[in-house]
Amino acid sequence: METMRAHVFHGVGRTSIEHLPLPQPKAGEALVRVTLTTICGTDLHIVRGEYPVKPGLVIGHEPVGVIAELGAGVAGYQIGDRVLIGAITPCGQCRACLSGQLSQCGHGEGYEAIGGWRFGNTINGAQAECLIVPAAQANLAKIPNELTDEQVVLLADIASTGISGAESGGVRIGDTVVVFAQGPIGLCATAGAKLMGAALVIGIDRDPTRLAMARRMGADVVLDARECDVPAEVRRLSGGGVDVAIEALGQQATFEMALRALRPGGTLSSLGVYSGKLQIPYEAFAAGIGDHRIVTTLCPGGKERMRRLMELVKQSRLDLTPLITHRVPLEDIVEGYRIFGEHRDGVLKVAVKP
Ligand SMILES: NC(=O)c1ccc[n+]([C@@H]2O[C@H](COP(=O)([O-])OP(=O)(O)OC[C@H]3O[C@@H](n4cnc5c(N)ncnc54)[C@H](O)[C@@H]3O)[C@@H](O)[C@H]2O)c1
Ligand SMILES: [Zn+2]
Ligand SMILES: [Zn+2]
Repeated sequence: METMRAHVFHGVGRTSIEHLPLPQPKAGEALVRVTLTTICGTDLHIVRGEYPVKPGLVIGHEPVGVIAELGAGVAGYQIGDRVLIGAITPCGQCRACLSGQLSQCGHGEGYEAIGGWRFGNTINGAQAECLIVPAAQANLAKIPNELTDEQVVLLADIASTGISGAESGGVRIGDTVVVFAQGPIGLCATAGAKLMGAALVIGIDRDPTRLAMARRMGADVVLDARECDVPAEVRRLSGGGVDVAIEALGQQATFEMALRALRPGGTLSSLGVYSGKLQIPYEAFAAGIGDHRIVTTLCPGGKERMRRLMELVKQSRLDLTPLITHRVPLEDIVEGYRIFGEHRDGVLKVAVKP
């Protein structure tokens, strides 16, 4: 029997590289040989037991690879095609997808919150030599020849998510935007705000390396959250409050600061994944009558989203390669998790090569 190496979750704090049987694609699926993937903050939540998945699952949801086998009914592709697959794999057929809520793709008739996130969540994921792509017709995005794996791997998740923070916030030409936290997601939100035409982008973090990277990704001003009253300084810089505040951390403190930094009528675009209770102080929310909007977004996926993001890279509008600070072979992925999880050595993203 043919086998493949894969990074398998066994329980809190326990993962290992194992040999698993090579899966076979069923109708509508594709088997992809992974050539590059990465580690997401969400994978850390899984390994730490903060987000439950079933033991025995292969984790990871950011695959770049080559088509190895096509299931029946998948047309327009050939074995050997290089493809990028989004972290979220909408089916394109269900009620959620056909209502335009691709990330909330449900199975069967209904909606299922975060139902479109399958890799390394409900089915085996990308930290492996091979993976099965569901709804392949909707999810295999061919990579233009001139783009390398490293140029596209971060589009699967963090760039799609971060940029969506600016899109969902409805950033308009000339807007002022603040982005709370400059981790990988926040850095891509900063780049997204710039791409959408913001006149002033303010990046917030408390790590000087990340603030320096924020400038490189398009922030005009950066503020160290340890050193100033952030909402007050943001209101001063923006002449009374920003048009759009993007939350990219998932904590009460940053959510609240984002709300306090908004102008009346402004939009809080939230990307963070929260745990426990999230509270809205009534005065920061103008008692509910400040014409504020709060919007949330799950990473957009599907092959058309990936095509558009790759086009940005191809036309030199977006370069995410500076965010790849470390590279490890799949055998050493556990060490990669340690570096990434402990924010060691100036790490931003770790590229993993099976
Ligand atoms: N919406 C989605 O689809 C989606 C997808 C992936 C990840 N996420 C979520 O996005 C969030 C960010 O992910 P990431 O990988 O960029 O996180 P990260 O942990 O790598 O980065 C967090 C950043 O926040 C900074 N920080 C910490 N406390 C701060 C404070 N009080 N003020 C300002 N900065 C502070 C840290 O220095 C760090 O740079 C997480 O909640 C993650 O789960 C959401
Ligand atoms: Zn992720
Ligand atoms: Zn669907």
